[in-house]
Amino acid sequence: MVLFPSTAIPDVAAHLSEAATSPALPLVHRPRRLRRTEGLRRMVRETVLTVDDLIYPMFVVEGSGQRQQVPSMPGCDRYSIDLLIEELQEVVGLGIGAIALFPLIPDHQKDNAGTESYNPTGLIPQTVRAIKQAFPQLLVITDVALDPYSTMGHDGIVQDGEILNDETVAVLVKQALAHAEAGADMVAPSDMMDGRIGAIRQALDAEGWINVGILAYSAKYASAYYGPFRDALESAPKFGDKKTYQMDAANAAEALKEVDLDIAEGADIVMVKPALAYLDIIHRIKQHTNLPVAAYNVSGEYAMVKAAAAQGWIDETAVMLETLTSIKRAGADVILTYFAKDAARALKAGG
Ligand code: PBG
Repeated sequence: MVLFPSTAIPDVAAHLSEAATSPALPLVHRPRRLRRTEGLRRMVRETVLTVDDLIYPMFVVEGSGQRQQVPSMPGCDRYSIDLLIEELQEVVGLGIGAIALFPLIPDHQKDNAGTESYNPTGLIPQTVRAIKQAFPQLLVITDVALDPYSTMGHDGIVQDGEILNDETVAVLVKQALAHAEAGADMVAPSDMMDGRIGAIRQALDAEGWINVGILAYSAKYASAYYGPFRDALESAPKFGDKKTYQMDAANAAEALKEVDLDIAEGADIVMVKPALAYLDIIHRIKQHTNLPVAAYNVSGEYAMVKAAAAQGWIDETAVMLETLTSIKRAGADVILTYFAKDAARALKAGG
């Protein structure tokens, strides 16, 4: 059936008669043949995003009956444990198999050494226990870093304006052990102190937690894309920036160095963060290692899509799926994304 006969358009008609009288075009390949129908496109599709690829980062707050919106992260609220468990019904129901937890710590529990971070009955250990009781199969990944617990909003102990490395690592080790003790499946050090992967691996093994994995934030950049996350946790640095420990956005070879170190120290999965402005880094790391590679589609990347969609400027679902697919195509085996629920729903509906 010809809906729109091309002969009806004068210029096209001219070209048609020209094509008919000239010899056949020497086209051996016509790539468009494989794009002709949805069935063909599906058959030759190289990258297929699935719900198994996704880890859902979630924010937890103390108390009960709490569900607090974060203006810069629409759709990603902070939950107290009771409501988090309710929310997880939906998350698990959508087929999402893994979550990453981040706490909002009240100011009175913060100090420079992040002491609350290794409280065995602190917010994260309590949350992990409750989740493991309700959803034993759900993979629970905990973030290991001091910033939510630090009066300074830094990922390490501060002395005279400097972030101390080895002293911080000692605290991170205690934090990781507290999370393992509570039942975390994996710990995810996001602090970028030197040597922390090895120190944590050694301590976990020494305490018998040989099956607790390490998802290492290996190539974590000093990025302006973390803004909305810092709103969610009220964890913005009180002075300066994070450039003495997080990586310079201009560097790529250094990412491979960080990855090599983390692998040598015992990382199970290496991560690149953020994702979108660093797709080349994801690609290089995937070529470089046989470990699974994770990428963090961070808060600012999420907020930009949500904001543009709210204005009606983009098609949110289409942009979300295109973005997540691009991260996977670049080489990520695993994607941490605040879009996990939306993506799971869209994929269920047929993408
Ligand atoms: C801090 C941490 C950050 C994120 C995860 N862990 C922010 C930072 O380094 O300041 C960012 C996540 C996001 O932006 O979505 N240890």
